[in-house]
Amino acid sequence: MSSNIIVGTPVLSEAAELYRKHGLALKTVVLFDENTRRLFGDRVIGTLEEQGFRLLELSVPARETSKSFSSAYRLYGSMIEGGVDRSWNLLAVGGGVVGDLGGFIAASYYRGLPVVQCPTTLLAMTDSSIGGKVAINHPLGKNLIGFFHMPELVLIDPSFLSTLPRREVFGGMAEVIKYGFIADRDFLEWLEKHFDRITALEEPFISEAVRRSAFIKADVVEKDFRETTGLRATLNFGHTFAHGLEKLAEYRHIRHGEAVTIGMACALCLSHNLGYLSVDAMRSGLELISRFRFPKGLLERRFLMHSAEALLENMFSDKKKLDSKLRFVLLKKPGEAFLLEEDVEDREVLRAIEDARRFFSEGNTIG
Ligand SMILES: NC(=O)c1ccc[n+]([C@@H]2O[C@H](COP(=O)([O-])OP(=O)(O)OC[C@H]3O[C@@H](n4cnc5c(N)ncnc54)[C@H](O)[C@@H]3O)[C@@H](O)[C@H]2O)c1
Ligand SMILES: [Zn+2]
Repeated sequence: MSSNIIVGTPVLSEAAELYRKHGLALKTVVLFDENTRRLFGDRVIGTLEEQGFRLLELSVPARETSKSFSSAYRLYGSMIEGGVDRSWNLLAVGGGVVGDLGGFIAASYYRGLPVVQCPTTLLAMTDSSIGGKVAINHPLGKNLIGFFHMPELVLIDPSFLSTLPRREVFGGMAEVIKYGFIADRDFLEWLEKHFDRITALEEPFISEAVRRSAFIKADVVEKDFRETTGLRATLNFGHTFAHGLEKLAEYRHIRHGEAVTIGMACALCLSHNLGYLSVDAMRSGLELISRFRFPKGLLERRFLMHSAEALLENMFSDKKKLDSKLRFVLLKKPGEAFLLEEDVEDREVLRAIEDARRFFSEGNTIG
């Protein structure tokens, strides 16, 4: 899987060669959202046309609601009218929204076209474009309708990040740090050392952070594709708490990565409180988290203002209510995570949330 992930600048100038090597025709539906179309559209289309690609260009509004049946339906129509058949493939140029929607369309159109991901947000480069999960949303829940549809290629050009708003950079950075916590202590130490350079998108730091994150995700997914051994589940470190925060904010007022950042602080506290993680490891983890920057007032409004009980209640998503148990990924030590099989008592969850609240409100010291 990692061999299909190419990180480089400008990666699309080698597209034709890479496509041929991977048995892909130079007939491609290129899907953008309106921002990536405006920012990179001409460049991407021009580069591909120069290399002899035949293209059908499509785009969707830049918002989460584009991951819907109605936009998929509209795009299928354009593809049928454009003469797209099974010999074509689809290139998704954008963040996770475009990647998930593009992957969904590719997986279903004509019983499946190959998909190539060209992620343009830090979150998409390090997380959503890798691993083959593609989905649209249903009014009753996010990402409920979808497929496992592995990308034939993931073409990552970190120079696309230069236009990304700071908030999105930190959002993606949450997942980057997550990989250090769950899988790679050396990487974690490297991230501690270069955090500011990475978030300033300085080279070679940003490319290295993207490359190592993407490879960790690919490796985890490869070893546990269908989430049977608990390994892939470790990618959800901090996410049980994060989902509660996202739900409390009605999925609108907090970015996923911001919720994950707070969620990882809770998960570090829980790991320590339950006796798995040393106090020193917890503290250094929290110190790294203290370097994240949130929009003014966000922590107060979206986390500190809520009671721990309210957050706990919202951590039960409808999906998980089926067995009404929360599952937690904990750390044993930096770089080593596991999915806790046992149930965690509510009072421990509440205590971890309270500890994290104290950390975020009292100048980041705890323990
Ligand atoms: N499939 C998976 O495994 C997986 C994993 C995590 C998240 N996701 C999904 O990913 C989505 C979130 O992805 P996201 O955070 O990338 O959000 P996004 O796709 O909404 O992108 C965020 C914003 O940045 C803009 N943008 C994209 N690239 C840009 C660039 N280079 N410069 C400036 N602006 C740019 C987009 O137009 C958008 O407005 C969610 O729908 C989530 O469910 C999927
Ligand atoms: Zn995530």
